Amino acid sequence: MRVFTITIASALLCAGAAAAQSGTSAATAASSTPWRSIPTLPSDIDQGRKLLANLEDPNAKSAQKLCPGYTAINLRNCPGGLSARLLLAGANCDLYGTDIDQLSLRVLFGPKSRLNIRILPAEIPEGQESWYDTKEDYLRRTVNGIHFNPADSELDFQLNSSPFEFSVVRKSTGDVLFSTKGSKLVFENQFLEFRTELPEKYNLYGLGEVMHSIRLGNNYNRTIYSADVNDPLDENLYGSHPFYYEHRYATLKDGSKKGYAHGVYLRNLHGQDILLREKSLTWRTIGGMVDLTFYSGPTPADVIADYVKTVGLPAMQQYWTFGFHQCRWGYSNVSDLKGVIETYKSFNIPLETIWTDIDYMDQYRDWTNDPVTYDLEAFSAFLDKLHADGQHFVPIVDAAIYNPDGSLYIGAVWPGFTVFPDWSAPGTQDWWTDSFQKWYNEVEYDGIWLDMNEVSSFCVGSFTPGADVRAVNYPPYAIDHVHDGHDLAVHAVSPNATHSDGSLEYDMHSLWGHLETKATYESLLKVFPGKRPFIISRSSAPGTGAWAGHWGGDNASKWLYMALSIPQALSFSMFGIPMFGVDTCGFNGNTSMELCARWMQLSAFFPFYRNHNVLSAISQEAYRWAAVADASRTAMAIRYTLLPYMYTLFHHAHTTGATVMRALSWEFPNDESLVEVDRQFMLGPAIMVTPVLDQGANYTYATFPGGKNEKWYDWYTYEARSGSNGSLANLTAPLGHIPVFVRGGNILALQHPAYTTAESRKNPWDVLVALDSEGDAYGDLYLDDGESLVQEKTVFITLEATNSLLNVSRKGQWISKETLSSVIILGVSKKPDQITFGKEKLDKWNWEEKSQVLKMTGLELVTKGGAWSNGWELSWK
Ligand code: NOJ
Repeated sequence: MRVFTITIASALLCAGAAAAQSGTSAATAASSTPWRSIPTLPSDIDQGRKLLANLEDPNAKSAQKLCPGYTAINLRNCPGGLSARLLLAGANCDLYGTDIDQLSLRVLFGPKSRLNIRILPAEIPEGQESWYDTKEDYLRRTVNGIHFNPADSELDFQLNSSPFEFSVVRKSTGDVLFSTKGSKLVFENQFLEFRTELPEKYNLYGLGEVMHSIRLGNNYNRTIYSADVNDPLDENLYGSHPFYYEHRYATLKDGSKKGYAHGVYLRNLHGQDILLREKSLTWRTIGGMVDLTFYSGPTPADVIADYVKTVGLPAMQQYWTFGFHQCRWGYSNVSDLKGVIETYKSFNIPLETIWTDIDYMDQYRDWTNDPVTYDLEAFSAFLDKLHADGQHFVPIVDAAIYNPDGSLYIGAVWPGFTVFPDWSAPGTQDWWTDSFQKWYNEVEYDGIWLDMNEVSSFCVGSFTPGADVRAVNYPPYAIDHVHDGHDLAVHAVSPNATHSDGSLEYDMHSLWGHLETKATYESLLKVFPGKRPFIISRSSAPGTGAWAGHWGGDNASKWLYMALSIPQALSFSMFGIPMFGVDTCGFNGNTSMELCARWMQLSAFFPFYRNHNVLSAISQEAYRWAAVADASRTAMAIRYTLLPYMYTLFHHAHTTGATVMRALSWEFPNDESLVEVDRQFMLGPAIMVTPVLDQGANYTYATFPGGKNEKWYDWYTYEARSGSNGSLANLTAPLGHIPVFVRGGNILALQHPAYTTAESRKNPWDVLVALDSEGDAYGDLYLDDGESLVQEKTVFITLEATNSLLNVSRKGQWISKETLSSVIILGVSKKPDQITFGKEKLDKWNWEEKSQVLKMTGLELVTKGGAWSNGWELSWK
């Protein structure tokens, strides 16, 4: 095996671990996650130096007080924007690093919704590689055009030369979106600080990955630095996303409100703290440069789509990936897997994909199988049958690679001595691809689950001071990092490990999982030529969504974690990773019947739907309790009915950056009462989900936005209600029932559900038209072969209803043969005299006065060639 490693000068602390590892005593795992009992490492091996995070230190020196700030000179207009030189405006303060005397400022506009501000040490010419900037290959740049005329921008850049301060203004309203007025820019080789003023009681969202409610507090700290840790609240977790948007509400002359949102992205993945204060936000990083992009919106949906376009539009997923996935740590042999699959089938609970955790591996080594419990012959036979039944298999792959002789030893993970692939080394991609290809010849997997890629190591990274003048293992400013003593070396590769291209782990740490995901995407393109790779990764960064989805990591089997899964998912909608789900029923600890029943129903409306739990917990497959089985069947039937809708939403996400799971405030951007709503959510524009999130409750409170002219139809009864004007409605929801509503104005193309997604795709269609109070509605449907990266034929179907006429038109070549079964129209206030489909008069229909539902059946006869083979019209007059 060729191993490409990150090299280090010596292996002090982990070498201790290695010695201990060779002993037989089963000491507790050196992990912040106590359930990790597999490696026999001494318990003190993952302890850090007890650093005081700067944020905790009452005596911490204030850069704003002690540092001189900058003066701007040589301000000039240049193509697409302007440039200036910034000079240190006084004596060095060298507070948390070395001050940079001269900086270059470059402001670039374009397209009209974006503005980019880059501040870099002047001695580094634009485009030259340095650890201040991140390679374009690793993190895309946001604004490339130099041909845009700044006068056409929706944003204005205003600069004060002495002291150097800048503001970003929304031209149409004069609103100051970001202003460093009254604060100093601090630019040192290991410390950046800048501050913006914010309006009182600001509504700010994003900045992850952290477990928190959707709206961030106004007296609150956030740290961003990728870490392997089991989902503690308000701490930095697996992924790094330095992006936020702010939502403001202006009062118009008539007293009504109008929402305006703008986004801010700092293209810098160094460890960082963000201090949210009553009227300001302070950004501090321990390296890199100022590379800020502003997005003018003006709606949250506009901001998010624009941001996502700049970091990378999300990958289109294969159709089958939207089926239900079952996983657990502890499927100890092939018979376990068979048993799970057969039991799901016997309970008639749809199961699309079975996953295996590290149990399948030979001594926890990647691309191997345990020769006894996962014997290749038995495993292959099992996979053949699984595939023949239209089901799928996804195994875990860990970041750490077993290193047999310890010579390259720099870490310890499940297999013992490990090394870590260096994505900058010339041969790594080929070796990675080769490993996946060879393994596929033995084990026919359908997708890959990437774990432990923060990157995690169960001991304090080893190091000796390197040539770099910076103090990279213990930088002078200590971020409020979650691990022991806030030490960057804990539970990770040492920050001073040197990559083959000369870069230091210190500057690259939070990109590791992102680059691994990219490499895996390239590998799977070779294993499955022409097919969309399916990857779920634990660590992520801006743009990871272009290759993979993400799950919420090691949550707990607790009601709070189920509730927090909604804001977690909404954050990943913001971050451009729509293929998101959490460990349904909970990972750590034992779940309960009630929690699992509620959670199986809630997750059925998340794009990625997987049940997974930890080794030591009780089994929690959907069939373990009758009530969970019933609840799952009910919710899965809805999910599978909606699969074409979910797939169409992904098509939009992939092509335009539109979100799939949405906060209510994104769909109703002028309604200020929604700023904190994250216990209900929308799936696309049409479906609102209002789950029960509390133990013992058989009801839930929900807001119905949109005012009295808005119509919301109950998914189950079709009963209509109008908006609740900010007040909460009490909805009855006994166990097994998840309240779901269709927003008036939408048309859904639905397909009859089946056991697998492949079977569902062959079933007849229904159309559900939910009229708004004007009698109008709109919907669309995207279809293709469900798996190819580049499609030969696709079809895009538009459904429009107005004046008692439903018009269906199609664009594209893809043909699907399934017929139309029924059309149901909600909100029809008077009995029609006659119904026609094209020129044909229909006689199988029924209108109910009380419910105002019009239903036409038997449409198979008039759509024999397929529901969508031609355009058609249906009228009810
Ligand atoms: C950590 C992952 O987050 C979890 O999902 C997995 O079960 C364990 N590693 C074991 O592989």
